[in-house]
Amino acid sequence: MRIFSGIQPTGDKHFGNYSGGFRQYAATQEEGDAFFCIVDLHSITTAYEPDELRESTLDLAAMLFATGLDPDRSTVFVQSHVTAHAEAAWLLSGVTSYGQLGRMTQFKDKSERQEFISAGLFTYPVLMAGDILLYQTDLVPIGDDQRQHLELARDVAERFNSRYGETFRVPGGRFPKTGGRIMDLQDPERKMSTTGGTPQGTVLMEDPADAVRKKLKSAVTDSGSDVRYDPAAKPGISNLPEIMSVATGEEIEALEARYDSGGYGPVQAHRAPAAVALLQP
Ligand code: TYM
Repeated sequence: MRIFSGIQPTGDKHFGNYSGGFRQYAATQEEGDAFFCIVDLHSITTAYEPDELRESTLDLAAMLFATGLDPDRSTVFVQSHVTAHAEAAWLLSGVTSYGQLGRMTQFKDKSERQEFISAGLFTYPVLMAGDILLYQTDLVPIGDDQRQHLELARDVAERFNSRYGETFRVPGGRFPKTGGRIMDLQDPERKMSTTGGTPQGTVLMEDPADAVRKKLKSAVTDSGSDVRYDPAAKPGISNLPEIMSVATGEEIEALEARYDSGGYGPVQAHRAPAAVALLQP
């Protein structure tokens, strides 16, 4: 089986990336022929400093190995070193729907936050489709926020195959059962992210332990004191067992049962009782 995933070198890596990205990379490399790509060409769709980009590309490679990628098993490489990626993006743009690109929620979110909206930000998913299709990928381990982009890559493959003959394998996704979309600790309606989230609500991979503890302890929760996993009605409280489940491997139901005892002693709602409880089992 052929496995492929990509991750951007810009922006500090955070617990969301760990949950949807890094830990899935290390796990899936055991299942087949795995390629992990540092997608610097995607990072240049928004303003960047060339020196910083070079440095963060190397830092990300170090982090990929530190989190478990085995260079004897997986191919870890930089997207811009393989010029076929940029070429594929152009060639596939002829079978990509303009309308579908305009419906990408990531494009809509990102373009709202920027003064200068590059054409590259709009065509970004075509490059991602190229990344995946070039390797005849079967399986793409990703977080939930990339689901729509993968759907587009599948549509592109199918359209190309039906117009020009069977050429590309149509890839499938692997999304984590738990932790596919980790939310911001301060604004749990938004996903954890260094660009769209809050600094205090984002746990960075390189945060020292006391900073991680502080961020979790000051996580906002919802009204009411019950610990119930219900992301739609209780996004704040639901995010915490989700994070803990990713960190410890315990099932959400077991965590719910353990912490929903009703009382948290003197700790008040504004101090995020669930977060405190989660940290002091
Ligand atoms: P990127 O660099 O934004 O994120 C890397 C991985 O982290 C996941 N992720 C999350 N998972 C759970 N909760 C979150 N809050 C969270 N935030 C990020 C992402 O889903 C992703 O798996 N477009 C891609 C990179 C890419 C790619 C590819 C991926 C380019 N080409 C080909 C797969 C295949 C991106 O920007 O990911």
